[in-house]
Amino acid sequence: MSKEPAPPIVRTEIVEFSFDGRKFSGHQGETVAVALLRQGIIQLRDAPNTPAARGMFCVMGICQECVIEINGKRKEACRVPISSGLIIDKVKY
Ligand code: FES
Repeated sequence: MSKEPAPPIVRTEIVEFSFDGRKFSGHQGETVAVALLRQGIIQLRDAPNTPAARGMFCVMGICQECVIEINGKRKEACRVPISSGLIIDKVKY
C-alpha cells in the first residue's frame, strides 16, 4: 500500500497587526490566537479579579478564555482571522 505525500502548505500573504501596543505579523486568515502563539504569546488577557494569565483553551469559540478586544469590541481570539491593521488589546476590566 503506497501513500502519496501530503501536498505542500501554501501560505497566504503576511500582514501586520498590533497586540497590546506591540507590532506583530501573521498570515492573512489565520486566527489571532494562532498568529500570536506562533510568536510565543500565550497570555491573551488576565483573569477579571486576579492577575492570573488566561489564553487559549478550547480553540473553538466556546470557553471564552481567549477573549480580546478588537477596536473596543470583545471577541474570541481563536475565531477572529488576522487582517492587515487590526488593533488588538487585552480586555480591560
Ligand atoms: S479558546 Fe475557547 S473560546 Fe477561544
